[in-house]
Amino acid sequence: MPVPSLRELRGEDAPTIQSWLHTYLAEHLAWWQQVYGAPPESDLSELVQRNWQELMEAGSPRQWVRVIGEAKPQGIVLAETRQDRYMGFEVGVLSWIYVEPGARGQGVAAALMTGANEWMAAQGVRGKEVFVTAQNVAAVRLYQRHGYQICDHRMLGR
Ligand SMILES: CC(C)(COP(=O)(O)OP(=O)(O)OC[C@H]1O[C@@H](n2cnc3c(N)ncnc32)[C@H](O)[C@@H]1OP(=O)(O)O)[C@@H](O)C(=O)NCCC(=O)NCCS
Repeated sequence: MPVPSLRELRGEDAPTIQSWLHTYLAEHLAWWQQVYGAPPESDLSELVQRNWQELMEAGSPRQWVRVIGEAKPQGIVLAETRQDRYMGFEVGVLSWIYVEPGARGQGVAAALMTGANEWMAAQGVRGKEVFVTAQNVAAVRLYQRHGYQICDHRMLGR
């Protein structure tokens, strides 16, 4: 299968990406709710809109958003750089990756990860990080395959 090419995010991607954000955020809110033992007080639709706006406005040199899928998006990745306050050097942050459920297991995630890794390397980062929920087995496996290893655990309590 040929390696899919990456393109910029467009306004007409809104319906697809917003529906992905809705699914993604709802799933994560349910995981966090389970541990906190309390429902979110945030509004899911507002969260979706805010995240979509942030993706559309991600134009600074420290941010990089790319989509796979010429007509209809099949996957999206958002990568950023920041200075690590403890290590003192620049790190790449994999902020979000999502693949259309029907397109999973076909190399879309790998192409997005490779693109993000190449962009981070071109920014001269000394390391990279990603936050992932422990129940998200597919994401943990994906990140491990692309050079990340589990270091810190974010633990929630009530
Ligand atoms: C994370 C995600 C991008 C991976 O995309 P994908 O196309 O499934 O990626 P891959 O096919 O490379 O699968 C990744 C690995 O997880 C495994 N996997 C996939 N679904 C799984 C599941 N339900 N349970 C256990 N393992 C699973 C695959 O076998 C593969 O492991 P391998 O490297 O040992 O073969 C995709 O699942 C997704 O979009 N999830 C929702 C968004 C999300 O959670 N993003 C990450 C948080 S920022």
